Amino acid sequence: MKALVLSGGAGTRLRPITHTYAKQLVPVANRPVLFYGLEAIAEAGITEVGVVVGGNGDEIRAAVGDGSRFGVRVTYLPQERPLGLAHAVLVARDFLGEEPFVMYLGDNFLVGGITGLVEGFAASRSDAHVLLTRVGDPSAFGVAELDGRGAVVRLEEKPERPRSDLALVGVYLFGPAVHRAVRAVRPSHRGELEITDAIQWLIDNGHDVRSTTVSGYWKDTGNVDDMLEVNRTVLESLTPGVAGEVDEASELVGRVRIERGARVSGSRIVGPAVIGSGTWIRDSYVGPFTSVAEDCRITTSEIEFSIVLRDSRLSGVRRVHSSLIGRSVTLTAAPRPPDAHRFVLGDHSEVQIPT
Ligand code: G1P
Repeated sequence: MKALVLSGGAGTRLRPITHTYAKQLVPVANRPVLFYGLEAIAEAGITEVGVVVGGNGDEIRAAVGDGSRFGVRVTYLPQERPLGLAHAVLVARDFLGEEPFVMYLGDNFLVGGITGLVEGFAASRSDAHVLLTRVGDPSAFGVAELDGRGAVVRLEEKPERPRSDLALVGVYLFGPAVHRAVRAVRPSHRGELEITDAIQWLIDNGHDVRSTTVSGYWKDTGNVDDMLEVNRTVLESLTPGVAGEVDEASELVGRVRIERGARVSGSRIVGPAVIGSGTWIRDSYVGPFTSVAEDCRITTSEIEFSIVLRDSRLSGVRRVHSSLIGRSVTLTAAPRPPDAHRFVLGDHSEVQIPT
């Protein structure tokens, strides 16, 4: 069994972060979301991993390397343009050969790993196995329709009028028949070769396509709310520990991890929360479900349920909540009246202020 990890997507829903950052590398509990997928693949006993990369290929290569740190061997498969998930399978044809494989979308997060799924698929010898989950807004996903016996009869990519609330999770298992399917499909209305259409082709041509409906343990981290939610889930099982310095005037409550080289002074940190190396939290409050990456400075500020990427500075800002703050961002209180908001915001930034 091999794995195909897709890391080419542009991440438009995570703008402006993804103007300068591959969405698969946005950190969850201070580790790129993609790493959790690679770990799940390694845990399932798969060692040959093809990583499909696009415009952000260099960044992904720098972060993942040869895969040895995860216990896998990574082969990079460049996809010239983001022409769809089925196109990524075409690109990977030689790498995959005739072996069955798991296709894992690099921005998807499955709590609990994929070991059981991979074993079940290997034993079943079916042609494809999809994971489904009930969602509130099916039109944002591929949507499946099942018959009375639970077999998949129809799949539609981001339908305007969804026939069910069962969304396709971004982890798929395929046998070699999928290679004929991806050659057979034509570009969709969004101009992409959809894996959803390729699976429909398998169904229509009498192949054995099975499904498992999973509940409550999946997120596509494509948007900020889901990203924060995944961060919350991962932090809940964080291993607490203090490898940095915490002074006597500070208080750590609950599951808190202070990484090596981090400093906490005169502050209260209520977990679950992680503070990255080289970061200094001074005279501040860091509340639950917050990840602060490396080399940040948080001074006389309050932040909770948020992700802060590296090298950012918060000073004198109260009540930052449900926020995703990029790299090298500066957020400060205005030094003197008038009491006005002043911004330098990148393209596609989003700001909410109390009125
Ligand atoms: C892709 C698939 C879609 C699936 C989703 C899961 O969507 O096309 O069927 O439900 O991943 O994350 P995309 O991320 O390309 O919008």
